[in-house]
Amino acid sequence: MTRSARRMADIQPFHVMEILKRAHELAASGRDIIHLEVGEPDFASPQPIVEAAQRFLAGGHVHYTPALGLNTLREAIARFYHDRFGADVPPERIIVTPGASGALMLALAALTDPADEWLLPDPGYPSNRHLVRSFEGVPRALPVDASTRFQPTPAQVEAAWTAQTRGLMVASPANPTGTLLALDEIVALQETVSQHKGVLIVDEIYQGLNYGVDASTALSRLDDVFVVNSFSKYFGMTGWRLGWLVAPEAYVRDIEKLAQHFFISPSTPAQHAALAAFEPATIAILEERRHEFAERRNALLPALRQLGFQFATEPQGAFYLYADISGITKDSQSLARLLIEEAGVATTPGIDFGDNGPELHLRIAYTTGAGRLLEAVERIARVL
Ligand SMILES: Cc1ncc(COP(=O)(O)O)c(C=O)c1O
Repeated sequence: MTRSARRMADIQPFHVMEILKRAHELAASGRDIIHLEVGEPDFASPQPIVEAAQRFLAGGHVHYTPALGLNTLREAIARFYHDRFGADVPPERIIVTPGASGALMLALAALTDPADEWLLPDPGYPSNRHLVRSFEGVPRALPVDASTRFQPTPAQVEAAWTAQTRGLMVASPANPTGTLLALDEIVALQETVSQHKGVLIVDEIYQGLNYGVDASTALSRLDDVFVVNSFSKYFGMTGWRLGWLVAPEAYVRDIEKLAQHFFISPSTPAQHAALAAFEPATIAILEERRHEFAERRNALLPALRQLGFQFATEPQGAFYLYADISGITKDSQSLARLLIEEAGVATTPGIDFGDNGPELHLRIAYTTGAGRLLEAVERIARVL
């Protein structure tokens, strides 16, 4: 007889994976599917990164690294913060992790006591509430909408705070909405949180994928904050499984102990590859890709608006559009099903991202070339 832990009753599947499965079934039966559901860049990892990994692997010495990551990589990340954002972040505060996912696990495991509440914007990244639950915390949704660019305000955090609240998690740029928090807004949220002796976690995984506004980091204004980042998105390294966490100094030793037990060390080949991620030749490739993402976004937004998709606030980051579909239907799951079955276009219904109007929203990822995006729009138009 199986007996999973009680918490498993609260762990939901990643619904977008179900869409992906259906997309693969249809593709296997010969249908041409356009993928607008995938949350990863369609580009290959930049060549300098691949070559750095190949050089390392040729030596054959693929051993563990220190649990906090290669010192050279931690120093390279610190230099990146300094050179790109003017932020002084000592390498000692940087913990290299298996993706932003590993960083989120470490932060939440180090900070959460049983029954501690975490305030999470809804809609938001689905894994956060499940990670909080996995560490016996309680996820508390903060409903956010277009009126605040889908980001929480200090007043809202203040009103939601209870004696059990441990902290607030935000993302900028955010998933699924692609919206940003200005640095002043992050500082104001941190002030509210710290008045209650709570903790702020800022997920900056989409940092660098900004359109019409400069990339930024909370670390240029704040030390007393946990910052999550990754090589997955801007750096185009999803499958390498590498990210990092910046923690206030006082927490690093605790997090190191957890990292030793959770992971022993992050992937060694991935860390050697990532040493090439900040080289000027790599950044030049990544900036070209950022421009292409911007062009896709600029073409897709008006085309979808013409079809009745609404965007009360324009996303300025990541590679997602979070469309209000209330002018078309009040059932995003049926619309997603219709689009994949009839138009061969895969999208993600709002259900993955929380309980705040999921039936009225669809996430559309522009992680596909411009030609295919426009074809997707034509197919959607025909079906609607
Ligand atoms: C907001 C956010 N945080 C964290 C992650 C985890 O990414 P990874 O573990 O690949 O770095 C994702 C992935 O889509 C995300 O959207």
